Amino acid sequence: MARKADRPFVWANCALSLDGRLAYANGRPAQLSGREDLARVQGLRSAVDAILVGSGTVLADDPSLRVHWELLGRTPSPALPVPARVILDSRGRVRPPARVLDGSIRTVVFTSRSAPRAGPGSAERVRLGERRVPLPSALHWLYQHGIRSLLVEGGSGVISSFLRGGWVDRFSFFVAPVLIGEGSSPALLSGPPAGGPRRTLGLEVEGNKPLDGGVLVWGRPRRVRPGAASPPELGPEGWPVSPRPGKGVKTSRRPSGRDGA
Ligand SMILES: NC(=O)c1ccc[n+]([C@@H]2O[C@H](COP(=O)([O-])OP(=O)(O)OC[C@H]3O[C@@H](n4cnc5c(N)ncnc54)[C@H](OP(=O)(O)O)[C@@H]3O)[C@@H](O)[C@H]2O)c1
Repeated sequence: MARKADRPFVWANCALSLDGRLAYANGRPAQLSGREDLARVQGLRSAVDAILVGSGTVLADDPSLRVHWELLGRTPSPALPVPARVILDSRGRVRPPARVLDGSIRTVVFTSRSAPRAGPGSAERVRLGERRVPLPSALHWLYQHGIRSLLVEGGSGVISSFLRGGWVDRFSFFVAPVLIGEGSSPALLSGPPAGGPRRTLGLEVEGNKPLDGGVLVWGRPRRVRPGAASPPELGPEGWPVSPRPGKGVKTSRRPSGRDGA
């Protein structure tokens, strides 16, 4: 019998260089996606209940994490979904004027219990774990609060934690036709490298296609933990592509309309 769902369906998406890097040296943001891939990501965002990133990404990129409807050829309207924003910020380092704290969209910030209490800015604060936010508890909290599908966009530390923990149900990686080089640039999979073939993180590739001069690859990891909610509606190529008017987590306020990723 299938296990009862107790966590959201998790989708990991990011753009990387051909040598597996997510950004330039010292985490300087790299625009690796072209227009087509950026539009595809907006389709993904629009199809999920929430978008999650780590504190490192907020500090490096200051993303707005809103759906950029204009890239999908649509005018924003109240009928269109507004996915919530979720930030993993164990130490409470994310502070105003970070865009994710602008109060325009429902935002949940997970911190550990050792982080300073109630930081400034507009967000729902949830304290879990002693030093680092534990993913199982955070996922369960999100599920209990109505989030059934979650898009994990990065960065390196967060995607690695999700992949290594078996919390990714599907992935889509856009591989850009550039080489960045190793060193201080964050890799798709941070942490200790596999010592041999048995230690690699196996992926089942379900499809690929040329995009923006690079390649889009999608599929599922070989090891996935049970308990995921049903996936969002998938398009013909295996990932959610079209916005679903009227769906998504209801937010009390409209997006700010500020530009940015
Ligand atoms: N190419 C792309 O698609 C893409 C997308 C996003 C980001 N990026 C790039 O990625 C870089 C940021 O990556 P990053 O690794 O520094 O930061 P990150 O993955 O965004 O955030 C990592 C931080 O999240 C916090 N965290 C809390 N709970 C965690 C958990 N259970 N597992 C993992 N992390 C947890 C930790 O900091 P605390 O202990 O302080 O909480 C950790 O240092 C930037 O250079 C950005 O430009 C690229």
